[in-house]
Amino acid sequence: MQFVLPPLPFQMDALEPHLTREQIFYHYDHHHRGYLEKLDAALKDSNKRELPLEEIVCMTEGKIYNLAAQVWNHEFLWQSLSPTVRAPNGKLSDLLQASFGDMNGFRERFAHEAEERFGSGWAWLVYDPRTDWLTVTSTEDAKNPLGTGLIPLLTLDVWEHAYYLDYKDDRKTYIGKFLDHLINWDFANSNLAACTSMVRERHSG
Ligand code: FE2
Repeated sequence: MQFVLPPLPFQMDALEPHLTREQIFYHYDHHHRGYLEKLDAALKDSNKRELPLEEIVCMTEGKIYNLAAQVWNHEFLWQSLSPTVRAPNGKLSDLLQASFGDMNGFRERFAHEAEERFGSGWAWLVYDPRTDWLTVTSTEDAKNPLGTGLIPLLTLDVWEHAYYLDYKDDRKTYIGKFLDHLINWDFANSNLAACTSMVRERHSG
């Protein structure tokens, strides 16, 4: 398999004015593509290149892990963003309320985690199937929650390259725009539904 850059799930300028076309273009076409091309080159002669990306992330470390995780994280990031925000519903809505009190509680928790992540990294809304509970967490550099038992539902990239063209060093405002205008709750809903149906099948099987 040759690693392929998937198309963005929205037009390059669809997230304006919150994230400009230029910001998305550099992030997607330079940074995301760069990680993907480096991963492709690093695995040129390896049979790992035939494996699903998630498996490569879970079985590697060092340089290959960093590249594979960054590719996976960016694919997940684009899905986490949407020009049209629809409120969470069903089980996700119930879990948000139970886990954070209300949407404002979630907002504060996520903003704090994303702002306080020192240096480069990622903020995540994750589901813990062991406790049937949502948590907000963050990871450093390329790291992600794959392989930890936590199921990622949404992510936000807090590397400076994700917001510097639009917000310079103002990470706080960038995070606020994501929380208020860009969250793809439909994506989180579908990630949660996929996980809970897998857990149900395991229990009934
Ligand atoms: Fe990024």
